[in-house]
Amino acid sequence: MNKVKIVEVGPRDGLQNEPGEVPTAVKVELIERLADAGLSSVEATAFVSPKWVPQMADHTEVLERIRRKPGVSYPVLTPNLKGFEGALAAGATEVAIFGAASEAFSRKNINCSIAESLERFRPVAEAAKKANVKVRGYVSCVLGCPYEGEVAPQRVAEVAAALYEMGCYEVSLGDTIGVGTPGKAKAMIEACAKRVPLERLAGHYHDTYGQALANIYASLELGVSSFDASIAGLGGCPYARGATGNVATEDVVYMLEGMGAGTGVDLDRLVDIGQWICGVLGKEPASRAGRALAAKKRA
Ligand code: HMG
Ligand code: MG
Repeated sequence: MNKVKIVEVGPRDGLQNEPGEVPTAVKVELIERLADAGLSSVEATAFVSPKWVPQMADHTEVLERIRRKPGVSYPVLTPNLKGFEGALAAGATEVAIFGAASEAFSRKNINCSIAESLERFRPVAEAAKKANVKVRGYVSCVLGCPYEGEVAPQRVAEVAAALYEMGCYEVSLGDTIGVGTPGKAKAMIEACAKRVPLERLAGHYHDTYGQALANIYASLELGVSSFDASIAGLGGCPYARGATGNVATEDVVYMLEGMGAGTGVDLDRLVDIGQWICGVLGKEPASRAGRALAAKKRA
């Protein structure tokens, strides 16, 4: 099997929903350790409104303070030009614009309709191109919406195509509330692949219902080779109540190694990072592989 890219989203998706203040120094250490473990893309923070997502209020400091490893990308979320300008000033070389396939979620998450969001993203994509900054796109609610329920694959494909046509080098398909199952994930990807080249699609599966690894496997079968994951399975979305974290990075790396797919990531180091960050946050790692490997180490 070919190499699979993992985009580590723990420092952003993983921490954005944490109720207690996470010190900037901890965020910086987390990002640096994840890059040192071999992850080639570590989503660092979000240039969103601190009134909406207080946990990401230190975005500028985080991005300015991290020691950047050559060859590693540190994308940051930028919902509009204001966010993009802040990110650029703090030294961002990759940003992500994030839309949704559900109108209700779009309004709750970024306070505008899908069509309005695309109009806000366009100048961001143009400014990024001028500044030589890479742009990634997200579509949320690709397998269900916390407010609208079922979401048709066709609607996902339309938003994915709009983001791709705007210049996103990759469009990450987000099962925000982790309700999808493999057959549905396949149908959704097949619809998107009619509009966006398959090699430009990524899977972003939250694990709320324990389906994320199965959905990744189904996506791999179709030829998708880029997946988002969060260390120790941290996270959730503040605008999707009850949704838990992304699939755990440790679990994804364990599965891919078992399948003979190279990831370039050191699983042993990941396990230590998951134990450390969960110790700081006062919780147990959600990663099954992480817990099992840590127990083995202790024994
Ligand atoms: P808004 O209130 O509609 O924006 O927010 P506005 O343009 O009307 O501005 C209102 C105020 O916000 C103004 O400040 C602006 O300056 C400020 P005031 O004059 O009231 O003091 N403002 C900003 N401040 C900082 N950074 C900015 C910015 N823009 C405006 N970029 C906005 C619109 C998008 C900003 C807001 O709704 C927001 O920040 N939402 C947060 C969205 C978010 O971070 N959600 C979680 C991440 S997405 C996710 O988790 C899903 C994903 O993981 C994939 C998946 O799982 O599906 C990616
Ligand atoms: Mg997410």
